[in-house]
Amino acid sequence: MIRRTFLTRALSAAVASLFARNVSAQKPENGMQDMQGMSDMPSMSGGKMHMAATLAPADALPAGAPLAVLRKLTNESSEPGVFLGTLVAQPVQHEFLPDKPTTFWQYGNTTQGPVVGPLIDVREGDTVEIRFVNRLPQPSTIHWHGLPVPPDQDGNPSDPVAPGATRVYRFTLPSGSAGTYWYHPHPHMKTAEQVFRGLAGPIVVRSADDPLAAWPERHLFLSDLRLASDGSIPANDMMDWMNGREGQFVLVNGARRPRILVATDERWRVWNACSARYLRLSLGAGHRFAQVGTDGGLLEQPREELTELLLAPGERTELIVRAGMGPADAVLTAGVYDRRKMAMSHGSLPPEPHRALADVRFEPPSAAGNPLTPRAIPTSLRIVPSLGVPVTQKSVVFSEAMNMAAMQRSGASTHGMPAGMTFMINDAIFDPARISLTSRRGEVELWSIENRTDMDHPFHLHGTQFQVIDREQGAVNTPEPYRAWRDTVNVQPGETVRIATVQEMAGNRMFHCHILEHEDLGMMGTLKVI
Ligand code: C2O
Ligand code: CU
Ligand code: CU
Repeated sequence: MIRRTFLTRALSAAVASLFARNVSAQKPENGMQDMQGMSDMPSMSGGKMHMAATLAPADALPAGAPLAVLRKLTNESSEPGVFLGTLVAQPVQHEFLPDKPTTFWQYGNTTQGPVVGPLIDVREGDTVEIRFVNRLPQPSTIHWHGLPVPPDQDGNPSDPVAPGATRVYRFTLPSGSAGTYWYHPHPHMKTAEQVFRGLAGPIVVRSADDPLAAWPERHLFLSDLRLASDGSIPANDMMDWMNGREGQFVLVNGARRPRILVATDERWRVWNACSARYLRLSLGAGHRFAQVGTDGGLLEQPREELTELLLAPGERTELIVRAGMGPADAVLTAGVYDRRKMAMSHGSLPPEPHRALADVRFEPPSAAGNPLTPRAIPTSLRIVPSLGVPVTQKSVVFSEAMNMAAMQRSGASTHGMPAGMTFMINDAIFDPARISLTSRRGEVELWSIENRTDMDHPFHLHGTQFQVIDREQGAVNTPEPYRAWRDTVNVQPGETVRIATVQEMAGNRMFHCHILEHEDLGMMGTLKVI
């Protein structure tokens, strides 16, 4: 609470404008530019900061189009078991607002169809080779979020691909890796910007013995977009750096509030690819659904009769949604979730109001003419083996500090980011030259992740899937009710989440908060696996 009091008293409008100016300046060390930047100083009113750029209204993007089908990355290989693909990251213009084209950064060059990167649809055992061409004005990498790829193929910030350069990422998908993953850039201090300009795409890894293979599958890739009224994508302001960026639009497969027709029971894969937005998903009280999978694939048993499910930034889920049950019309909604965003003046910001993500129409089974409806979900989906007794323990502590002196220092920003606003892991911000933790290959470890800040942070570990063991909050210990493979888990303020994890390959792995602004600000560490 010390920090919140501090902000109340000390964060004057002058400091706030210093921040915003530095954030938007191309060359933060350049005094002239700083002076010019004064013209787009934000103003303070009612404890909220308003940027000079006016935003497009929240209904500026058309809604109600049928849900777009994700484009698929073409396999350039005809050899069985080999997937060869090319991902070009480049500026591409789309006309989201009439006559005001927006330059996105996206994978691929199509202006048709969604901005979302193409779906990489592969199988366990496949050898995957992706040629990455960087046509961005800055260095980038591709990170294979959640996949057990070798450390030197995982797009670490220490392995940048320069503007204009090409590199090949190569890995083989082990058996047991079937699940729902995604890819996105991971360059040093530029991840948030590259993702909010459009770079991210889905991956599905399939197994030969998937008990749900026959179910019709639907993909919902949820991302966040902020558009100025002139069609541009504004830079982050100070509030974005503090709380993580949330735009005025949430897109499903690249479009606002699409229409989904459910005519038969379906398997949904849902990605939360938003930079910072938490999605408390529901279809309304009349439509219960089952959860059958998490980040790293199927659960042991379906979790039936759910009315809501929280997906933190970076997380994925697999659901079974039933046709012909409940009212014919429903709204896929992100309900209110208070992640305790910090305010400029005092206390927390109120949580975002609930928001409609998609309109869903359920057709009765007869109208669909599908005799298989409703299908039974197998009661046993697969075995998720326990990792066994951990042989060693590790501690990860999230903390935060706001340093007034650093905030006020002239030119106090690095790489266009505000200085003095620190989100830390184990009392330190990320330093590419430092190893934060060391693990031995093949050793099962118990990690405790403790959140000593005042807001939620989603913890993410590269290179493996882990299992949540229990969660402790206010001396109450809640064992995780079911076993599941995850690579991202939310940690609430004051909470400690314990996970069992093991790394199989030697090399450096990142772990960090998946609010991308926090990651860029240094809420990240390097795990060295020996
Ligand atoms: Cu999805 Cu280190 O990231
Ligand atoms: Cu990752
Ligand atoms: Cu965070």
